[in-house]
Parts: sequence; C-alpha cells; structure tokens
Amino acid sequence: MPNKLPSSEAVATTPEPAAAPRKIYDVVKYGDPVLEKPTRLVPKFDAEIEELAEDMFATMYAAQGVGLAAPQIGKSIRLAVVDVTSGKNPEARIVLANPEIIHAEGEKREEEGCLSIPGFRGYVVRPQFVTVKAQNAKGEWFEIRGEDLLARAFCHEIDHLNGILFLTHLSMLKRDLIKRKIKKLRKQGEW
Ligand code: NI
Repeated sequence: MPNKLPSSEAVATTPEPAAAPRKIYDVVKYGDPVLEKPTRLVPKFDAEIEELAEDMFATMYAAQGVGLAAPQIGKSIRLAVVDVTSGKNPEARIVLANPEIIHAEGEKREEEGCLSIPGFRGYVVRPQFVTVKAQNAKGEWFEIRGEDLLARAFCHEIDHLNGILFLTHLSMLKRDLIKRKIKKLRKQGEW
C-alpha cells in the first residue's frame, strides 16, 4: 500500500542522531598485574575521556556487569562507570573520575562478584550507605550517595582503582579456594 507511508520512511527523512559505534574492550582477568596496581589520577578531561567512559559503559553492558573500572580494560587511571540498572535507566549511568569515599555508614554483608573474576562469588561486608565525591566525564565535581547495591558498587569500583579486588575481603579460606581453582583453570588453558 504505497499511499500509506510506513513510519520508517518518516524516520528516514528526519533521522535521529545515530549513537556512535562503541568499542567493546576485552575485560582483563585476575592474574594480570594491572588489576592489583593503584591507578593514577585522570590527568585531563577531554573528548578522549568522554569517549572512553562511553566505551566502558558499552563494555560493562556487554559483559552484564553493574560496574567497571579502567584497570579492568588495562588502563591504569582513576576512572570507573557504574549502572546498577544494567542500562534500563539512562539516568542511572554514573561516571566516577578521581572518586573518593567521603562518608560511609552501616554495614551489609552480601554476595559479590567481579567481571575480572568470572564464575566466582563471595560474601563481602560493605557499608550500607556511602557518599562519593568524584568528577564526571567532563571534569565537573559532584557528590552522590548510594545505598545497598549502589553503595557496594561504589566501594567495589573504588577498590579497583586502588588495586584491590573483592577477594581481599573474603576469608582466607575462601580466598585460597578461589585462587587454587583459578590456578587449575589457568593450567587447563581456561583462564
Ligand atoms: Ni570488579
């Protein structure tokens, strides 16, 4: 029925700006020294940092994570992204550049995992509430308060920027068990 213009044609004449194609990085796995090294401050805020943050969101969504820190893509700088809605709410996307925890309150013990340690989880005690001071991808300072999973994600990602993995917070028994299993996987060429 050519007299009835399909809506796709109307879209074609007034195109929405297309989203730039995003680079999906390989996520660095446990054992790579970059994960256990403190990062340096984001030195300057330019288009490159904004692009990197967008690529980190894309990488995080592709890996089905709720947070990703720059060392996990091999970049040793104080930059992380968090979205506890896994991309469902665009307003929940948080870029943390040069973040610091300025307040923490309460305690919560929950199971936690890490994209760099796939297949392993463990219970970690984290503050129930944290307030973080950070810069966004444009370098503007802001403060944000997180509760429960968001507070946990902030702590987990800021730990990454300090070269600390969630394994550090596990009991020695649990940590050694996971490390042994990873060693075995590595021997089998599966890590
Ligand atoms: Ni992690």
